[in-house]
Amino acid sequence: MTAPQDPPLLDDATLTRSPIVANNAMNRERGLRGVNSYARALGFDPLSRLGPGTAWLDLCCGSGRALFEAAGDPRAEGVRITGVDLVDFFLPAARPAGLDLIAADATGWTAPGRYDLITCVHGLHYVGDRLGLLARIASWLTPTGLFVADFDPAGLALAADLPGELRRQGFEYDARRRRLTLRGAREVEFPYAYLGADDTAGPNYTGQPAVRAHYTGT
Ligand SMILES: C[S@@+](CC[C@H](N)C(=O)[O-])C[C@H]1O[C@@H](n2cnc3c(N)ncnc32)[C@H](O)[C@@H]1O
Repeated sequence: MTAPQDPPLLDDATLTRSPIVANNAMNRERGLRGVNSYARALGFDPLSRLGPGTAWLDLCCGSGRALFEAAGDPRAEGVRITGVDLVDFFLPAARPAGLDLIAADATGWTAPGRYDLITCVHGLHYVGDRLGLLARIASWLTPTGLFVADFDPAGLALAADLPGELRRQGFEYDARRRRLTLRGAREVEFPYAYLGADDTAGPNYTGQPAVRAHYTGT
């Protein structure tokens, strides 16, 4: 009997061309509030945490619908809103003042400033080195900034206590809601080496095919 083959692991540049990541069938259309929304996924309305002079970064922002809705809301007066997504499937509408949408791979993009709020709604499931990205995100927060993301520990192949390590690095993880939170900028360094991504892992808890990120302890 032959042993099952390990899946070939993709580097992040190759992963961005994977049909699991760059397809146009995934849900990129969440609005700001309502049933299928950022407020529902994050547990709060992002605008409730923002005011004049503040900045919100949304990684893996999809079409940017929630950001368009936020930027068009009178409460967003003086708020800088930035969305980053791998693919330019942004809504083809005129962009309200204060809204910037950038087509880039979040794992290679560097934030030009600090943010009071950083979100990633059902985006990390498709990112290769997501722990590397989390460490970079931690450095992009203001001292009192908030990061919130959907996060599935089962999406990482890692022979270590990931929830424990996340806590040690300052994150809070709500396992019931699969919600990862970090409050305030900090230096984060995970003691694992990224090996690559498997795009053949199948559906995760959302029911959609996701990417499994492989790491080894160092
Ligand atoms: C399920 S969609 C969610 C979109 C949006 N947050 C929403 O809830 O409507 C996941 C998004 O992650 C984006 N994505 C995947 N890998 C990415 C990467 N490495 N960098 C930036 N965006 C990425 C995809 O293009 C897709 O738009």
